[in-house]
Amino acid sequence: AADLVIAPSILSSDFSRLGEEIAAVDRAGADWIHLDVMDGHFVPNITFGPPVVAAVRAASKKFFDAHLMIEPADPYLEAFAKAGCDGITVHAEATRHLDRSLQAIRALGCKAGVAINPATPETAIQYVLDRVDLVLVMTVNPGFGGQSFIRSTLDKIGRVRAMIGDRPIRLQVDGGVAPDTIGEIVAAGADTFVAGSAVYKGGNEAAYRANMDALRKA
Ligand code: DX5
Ligand code: ZN
Repeated sequence: AADLVIAPSILSSDFSRLGEEIAAVDRAGADWIHLDVMDGHFVPNITFGPPVVAAVRAASKKFFDAHLMIEPADPYLEAFAKAGCDGITVHAEATRHLDRSLQAIRALGCKAGVAINPATPETAIQYVLDRVDLVLVMTVNPGFGGQSFIRSTLDKIGRVRAMIGDRPIRLQVDGGVAPDTIGEIVAAGADTFVAGSAVYKGGNEAAYRANMDALRKA
């Protein structure tokens, strides 16, 4: 399990101290930093865009993993790349020409990711697997932190793992990842874990370290 990646979602952090909150999870052992970008259109919530990503980029040298819950995504890919994102994930449901969007992300020098919502079948990504570095299986309906893990996604995670085969693609899950769910998710085949509320609860660096240790042990 040495290859498991923990990516705290800053959605559950204190936005008034965003840079410090990113530095704190970095020091506490985060592997990646997960950035939830929401537009109030594809999802019923609004968060932040490229200027905020650029402003906090200096807070950590770790992999900035942008999860774009925006529709359309294409007009903003370059701005997120320039803001310092290392990986950019777009939703299959929000991207009309998914193959083109994924090529564009790689052309910008970023790792390309594709996300699917809980109700989207895994066949949505079948023909883009050679264009991606990451597949994100959403385990809640995107829009908010702190929701309950949707158990029907476990079966889908296993199917996506089989589809990936021996390609060098990370299989990420996002939503409701906590010590009481992560064991089953690992068993289903995921290797990259987004956690918001389960990491940021407690509100200080010692708590963040303990929370990430608890995820790794579970
Ligand atoms: C949901 C976001 C998630 C969210 C996860 O729309 O994509 O990254 O922050 O939050 P938790 O871990 O609290 O379910
Ligand atoms: Zn996310």
